[in-house]
Amino acid sequence: MPKLIVTTREGETSEIEVEDGLTVMEAIRDNGFDELLALCGGCCSCATCHVHVDQAFADKLPEMSEDEDDLLESTDHRTDGSRLGCQIPFTAELDGLKVTIAPED
Ligand code: FES
Repeated sequence: MPKLIVTTREGETSEIEVEDGLTVMEAIRDNGFDELLALCGGCCSCATCHVHVDQAFADKLPEMSEDEDDLLESTDHRTDGSRLGCQIPFTAELDGLKVTIAPED
């Protein structure tokens, strides 16, 4: 299974295997990272699944929607690598993707 590398807010990094069909948010949440709240359940309306994605993968990610962009604009910790985890379906192409859970707003 493809792997996702997750760094927590405390700087701890772990590697998780991701089942087909999950989003980055679901993969992180379902692997027990409680700090990723994902309050809206993935419908792009809360921004609590905010992650910073390693720029090496930038061109492999799906394009950002206007809604995602607006939500990220409302956070205090936006960077060039900011994405909402629920808006990134995890595919085999993203094997080895590195994300860091963004600080809480
Ligand atoms: S889970 Fe709410 S925006 Fe991603």
